[in-house]
Amino acid sequence: MARRKLVAGKWKMHGISADLAEIGSIALAAETAAADVALCVPATLIERAVRAAPGFAIGGQDVHQSDKGAHTGCISAAMLLDAGAQLTIVGHSERREAQGESDADVKAKAEAGLAAGLSVILCVGESDSIREAGIAVETVAAQLDASLPGGIEEPTRFSVAYEPIWAIGTGKVPSVADIDEMHVALRGRLVAAFGEAGNQVRILYGGSVKASNAAEIFGVQDVDGALVGGASLKAADFLPIVEAASGSADR
Ligand code: PGA
Repeated sequence: MARRKLVAGKWKMHGISADLAEIGSIALAAETAAADVALCVPATLIERAVRAAPGFAIGGQDVHQSDKGAHTGCISAAMLLDAGAQLTIVGHSERREAQGESDADVKAKAEAGLAAGLSVILCVGESDSIREAGIAVETVAAQLDASLPGGIEEPTRFSVAYEPIWAIGTGKVPSVADIDEMHVALRGRLVAAFGEAGNQVRILYGGSVKASNAAEIFGVQDVDGALVGGASLKAADFLPIVEAASGSADR
């Protein structure tokens, strides 16, 4: 089953008008990349990012599960689409922790995004204490089971990102063997949930991905791309990661 790699950048709470030039440079290089490339930016920047880079995949970093209503400060899938977004992240650990999002919330958000026609990247990952306790694989597998949407009509519009919390923004990365073990387990859960379609879902790795470690990570079986935070803010840091993904064969 060949899966085209996806390299998605996410800007967290960074990005104003002055940063649009970076998006333009990334979008230009993405046109010739042999991998899918996307940037998930703050909601305030989505519409301008789409205008700065027509056709390039711009996304949001969260979506509310309801269509509309009394949810002050929240943004629906229809609103993301209206702004020109093609995708959204759901369940990032920073939101699970700081905004208290549960697996059930994340599942509902994923379902809302997919139903509206967005592509969805659903994040899971363990804390350092869970990793140290030796129960990372079963913990993350259970988190995925509880967060998965009920169905996926177009598996290529749905991706999972395995992001160990202790690796995000720290410069620490799991061993290749640990990434491999986790991705194989998550693939098993996707196939258990969705049958053959589970083999078409991309499983990204995220957490301190940078130019110097991208090729090794992309070499791992069942790593179908990356979710990149800090190294996605500048084209000069992000594009070598896109090149590494382009250079590793589709599987
Ligand atoms: P990082 O962030 O690449 O800066 O570690 C990853 C993420 O938040 O998804």
